[in-house]
Amino acid sequence: MTDKLLRKIEEEISRLHMKEHGVEELKVEEDVFDKPTLETLYKLANRGVITAMGGSISTGKEANVFYALGEDKRELAIKIYRITTSNFKAMSDYLIGDPRFANIKQSKKSIVFEWTKKEFKNLVRARDAGVRVPEPILSERNILIMEFIGEHEQHAPRLKDVGRDLEDAASFFEVVIDYTTKLYQNASLVHADLSEFNILVEGGSGDEARPVFIDIGQGVTLDHPNAEEFLSRDIHNICRYFSKLGIDASEEDVLASVKGLV
Ligand SMILES: Nc1ncnc2c1ncn2[C@@H]1O[C@H](COP(=O)(O)OP(=O)(O)OP(=O)(O)O)[C@@H](O)[C@H]1O
Ligand SMILES: [Mg+2]
Repeated sequence: MTDKLLRKIEEEISRLHMKEHGVEELKVEEDVFDKPTLETLYKLANRGVITAMGGSISTGKEANVFYALGEDKRELAIKIYRITTSNFKAMSDYLIGDPRFANIKQSKKSIVFEWTKKEFKNLVRARDAGVRVPEPILSERNILIMEFIGEHEQHAPRLKDVGRDLEDAASFFEVVIDYTTKLYQNASLVHADLSEFNILVEGGSGDEARPVFIDIGQGVTLDHPNAEEFLSRDIHNICRYFSKLGIDASEEDVLASVKGLV
């Protein structure tokens, strides 16, 4: 990989984001696209995994999400965890206690890499358990490539943004609980950050509206010491949100049903 090529891509990415967000966000872009991250993106471009890099979908606390195209112009979402500004303390609290990550080194970089891998693995487990999540495609270093939820460059809205427009909030709620149950019973996982912010709505707001669970990096296995607490919190968040939409469900009953106790 020549420096010249790298510089060109760097310029290209800067230009893209200047156009979209103005100069003030360039600092963030620099954080995301450090040289090794750019090199990894290039490698993936050379392998044909990424065929075009699009604009930013979201700038979150720990990660940026970008739109891209893959093989056969398939739409992709690329989530890039920032190495310099991520919250490592919070990340290691979730990693510690998860036996799948018992032997990780404690450097910032390796925690972020493990975190990215964890989100990928959690997506695979969730998908295999019958939960609708973005299809995981690849994870490398701090980069996670997955199916883009949405179409024609328009990402699907978050539940938070369209919940009130749902024609049938009751059946949407049921599917959310069904996914939470499948996650718990079939995948032995708790999402641990489930809320109207981390559920996308596919298929519009009519009869076809379907939830898609996203942002599952902090998900923990049931042997994590806080798994039960996280599950109660997830269910609390969901019930609280849907009660605002007129769906009244008892948190206790939902919890018992998710755990298969009733
Ligand atoms: N696969 C996807 N397809 C379409 N849009 C996505 C996809 N993944 C994420 N997004 C969009 O990007 C936003 C942020 O993604 P996500 O929730 O995974 O990260 P985050 O909350 O920013 O992460 P962090 O907690 O590290 O800040 C989502 O609200 C959604 O709008
Ligand atoms: Mg999120």
